[in-house]
Amino acid sequence: MSERHTATVRAAPAAPCIIVIFGASGDLTKRLLVPALYNLACDGLLPKGCPIVGTSSSDIPTPQFRERLSADIRTFSTRKELDSKVWDQFVLRLYYAQGKFDDPAAYQRLAALLEKLEGEYGTGGNVLFYMAVPPSVFGLISSNLSQAGLTTSARGWRRMIVEKPFGHDFASAKQLNQEILDHWREDQVFRIDHYLGKETVQNILAFRFANGMFEPLWNKHHIDHIQFTVAETVGVENRGRYYDSAGVLRDMIRNHMFQMLTYLCMEPPSSFKPEAVRNEKGKVLDAVRVMTPAEVAANTVRGQYGPARKADNTQVRGYRQEPDVNPQSATETFAGLRLYIDNWRWEGVPIYLRSGKSLWKRGTEILVQFKKAPEVIFRDTPEVDHVEPNQLIFHIQPDQGIELRFSAKNPGPLMSLQKVNMRFDYREAFEASRGTGYELLIYNCMIGDSTLFSRTDLVEAAWRIAQPILDHWATTTPADFPNYDAGTWGPKSAFGLIESDGRKWLEVVSRSVLEQVPLLAGSSPVFLHSLALMLKPKVFASGDFVVRKGEPGHEMYFVARGEVEIVDGDGRVIDMQGVGSFFGEKSLLLSEPRSASVRAKGQTDLYVLERSDFAKVAKDHPAITRLIIEQSKTRYKLDIDPDQFLRVT
Ligand code: BG6
Repeated sequence: MSERHTATVRAAPAAPCIIVIFGASGDLTKRLLVPALYNLACDGLLPKGCPIVGTSSSDIPTPQFRERLSADIRTFSTRKELDSKVWDQFVLRLYYAQGKFDDPAAYQRLAALLEKLEGEYGTGGNVLFYMAVPPSVFGLISSNLSQAGLTTSARGWRRMIVEKPFGHDFASAKQLNQEILDHWREDQVFRIDHYLGKETVQNILAFRFANGMFEPLWNKHHIDHIQFTVAETVGVENRGRYYDSAGVLRDMIRNHMFQMLTYLCMEPPSSFKPEAVRNEKGKVLDAVRVMTPAEVAANTVRGQYGPARKADNTQVRGYRQEPDVNPQSATETFAGLRLYIDNWRWEGVPIYLRSGKSLWKRGTEILVQFKKAPEVIFRDTPEVDHVEPNQLIFHIQPDQGIELRFSAKNPGPLMSLQKVNMRFDYREAFEASRGTGYELLIYNCMIGDSTLFSRTDLVEAAWRIAQPILDHWATTTPADFPNYDAGTWGPKSAFGLIESDGRKWLEVVSRSVLEQVPLLAGSSPVFLHSLALMLKPKVFASGDFVVRKGEPGHEMYFVARGEVEIVDGDGRVIDMQGVGSFFGEKSLLLSEPRSASVRAKGQTDLYVLERSDFAKVAKDHPAITRLIIEQSKTRYKLDIDPDQFLRVT
């Protein structure tokens, strides 16, 4: 049997319904909603009777609306090729109805159109309203729909999908819920979070609850800590106006990251029925410790990106220089939090979250770090100086998979350990066409499954956690903003947050990143893979000393971003090194004191390679060891015999 699988059970198309998109002339409709609906049509999940009505205040005749979207789909479709047979049919179901959101007559016209389409398409009274509009008009539209008698139907269902942001703070979220619930029943309201449409996020539930292996370990007795990282390379792009009033805690952490946290940390639900899952999500959010101001100060850090020059010498804008952003803005584009869940399962287990814009790479990862094995068993094996803890990593995007890191014995007569990994790659195991992430969410709403959508109490529980953080931050303007350069690993304080607990952020170093280091280019994939598992990231602020002359040292450094100055005993700068270079190899090779100091010039991101880790791969990869020794011969006039070095390491 082939190892690749396609879905074995085919979902059936949803029942006929009309979809009405409020805000149809906006970006969301052309970029995501229409491509998602088209994908559903390609997959046979959109019912045949499914007219789609766009509405907004712009005056667009239906033929022009169809033409526009026919052009846009060529840019925004997620499929390799446009299936013109499907699209040609699809486009004929698109209709446009002009109307101002505050004009009752527009709703009367809409009601008449819906009635006509219901007759033509046999939709039996079913209507899905999609609010692709700012939350400030959710209440207004709901009230007008209700007055026009459109929120209920004796014949079929009426549902509404609402887009984020759901409230600006706890009070406004509560008020928004009220405005909506004045006109809709809770079971009609589908609050969307596109992270829950991601396969890899949903797979957290399958992984936890369909496999008996991990559940007994999934608690404070076996797990040391958990990390969530959502790193983005993009800045705020053209969304400065919205973003400057939001910041990363509202935009990313309170919604998307808290959703992932609930999936990872909730108790097993009694079934996959919507309320069973949502009840458990609510319980775990309720158990997250709500911080006092002093706790906020101790458990959170924030950052804002500043301008920077890229390796290719092009200039990148800082946040305060972005369009529509206040030039003195105190809005955070990066945040790191340490949370605690005060329940029986997680008491005392730190949960670290960090997210930021304009970082060095795009990547969403969740790390579950298990407690270390006792080292005592290895005490008489001189090759083993410490045992690494097991790490389970959920790669959410752009890599999609699950990885387990553990220790294995190095080949040879001695007992020595090396970090290795097992990896499940979604793309290798399954065939799935790339979607927008909205397909499943829209489909689920059409079939009335609200599992992946938020409920009133869940929205409010998430705000209860975020609000004290926002409140405390509002009382103190960070004097050091901007505190990280665009394109780097984020502010130094984020590393301090976790390192003060004796832990480290997981920085997934891919082989392709290492190949950019000239010394390593052309190295064998096995070596690069081993090295990637060993390198530890470290951030230095401008002027920080990385090493000091005369200090003992056992590790070397690769410059991933920024520049370092080599400083002699008199404080004179005698050399500079930039991206791709390395230093400290003499101490790595000989464990000798440093012969010069090295200082960060600007924010600098380094990979650290410890001698004990290096020794493990050196034997199997003598070529790279020889290269490092060659370099140290030129730099330090050292006379190390590579063969002898390899014999004694
Ligand atoms: C959105 C945020 O909700 O999610 C954006 O408003 C962010 O700021 C985006 O860039 C990230 O989504 P994804 O799917 O690219 O991780």
